[in-house]
Amino acid sequence: MTTSAIPSTLSWNGHTLRLLDQTRLPAEETCIDVTSVAVLEDCIYRLVVRGAPAIGCAAGFGVVLIAREIPASLPGAQWLQEFDSRCAHLAATRPTAVNLRWAVERCSRRVHELSPLPKDRQQIAKTIEHEAQAILDEDRRMCADIGAAGAGMLQKLLGSRRDATLMTHCNAGALATGGSGTALAVMYAAQQAGIKLRVFADETRPLLQGARLTAWELARSGIDVTVICDNMAAAVMRQFHPDGVVVGADRIAANGDAANKIGTYGLAILARHHHVPFYIAAPSSTFDFALAEGSLIPIEERARAEIAAPYGRLTVPPEAQVYNPAFDVTPAALIAGWITEKGVLHPPFNDLRPRK
Ligand code: MRU
Repeated sequence: MTTSAIPSTLSWNGHTLRLLDQTRLPAEETCIDVTSVAVLEDCIYRLVVRGAPAIGCAAGFGVVLIAREIPASLPGAQWLQEFDSRCAHLAATRPTAVNLRWAVERCSRRVHELSPLPKDRQQIAKTIEHEAQAILDEDRRMCADIGAAGAGMLQKLLGSRRDATLMTHCNAGALATGGSGTALAVMYAAQQAGIKLRVFADETRPLLQGARLTAWELARSGIDVTVICDNMAAAVMRQFHPDGVVVGADRIAANGDAANKIGTYGLAILARHHHVPFYIAAPSSTFDFALAEGSLIPIEERARAEIAAPYGRLTVPPEAQVYNPAFDVTPAALIAGWITEKGVLHPPFNDLRPRK
């Protein structure tokens, strides 16, 4: 069982960043060719490309576009000032997924290390391109390692059983990364190891990433998937006794509190009530050790129309207000394990912390 039936979330040909347009799935499989950072920012904001790791991978190539867009005639100091300001703008496109800022800073650091700044600005773009490609390649490897770690853990959890029922929320699959995913990588690896899976995917209101994207990619990969409305999760837990809940994360604070798609926190509470272990699967690039706890994670608030007029149809009267936070924070106390490329870890995550 592989993810080969799923088209690439993003690809770079040296000039153009090609993004699978996730706003159109599952009805249409179309791509957008991005050649300017303004278009990339719009694509990130509109969720053409989405999921914390995929946003980070795309942003790395965005920094290449920035370097190409700044006039080469600007003197070095001015060029760098303009570069920093455009990088900051790109990094702020979506505030919660730390991978975005992480990837932009990582590419920008390479430029600041070039001292003096080469007169040939193409050389700067080449240096960034190298780093952006490394981010994408590493992300692919991390997804595979997360999958292996999670499948190994699941195997232990199941003992001699060869079938399992799992639940997930939003989309933390191939579509959300440069590789096979995080939470869904665990499922792909488990299926490959011969475990027969049944997956319940929350539809994930308001933008339906679970119904549109998770169900699409799991079904394409031959995994038995059942979509439920978010408000059915408690009933499903009671009726089907899942073996675990596995979801992704957009940012994980130093104490393990994890921000993920709105509704994840509620699912974790339901899992605790029903004695179902709840796991977060995420690469090291999603950990933010600068933040002591989850309450410090900035939560993106999105447009009213996503709730009040989805798909062009009015569903909320104009007189009513709408509150649309895109993420919530699940406290570490509700999380049974953090599945990473370095194994299934627990706070204080010593294996992931940058060495002093
Ligand atoms: O708003 P989205 O679709 O970008 O939200 C995505 C999620 O919440 C994912 O679960 C998270 O980014 C992890 S993706 C591996």
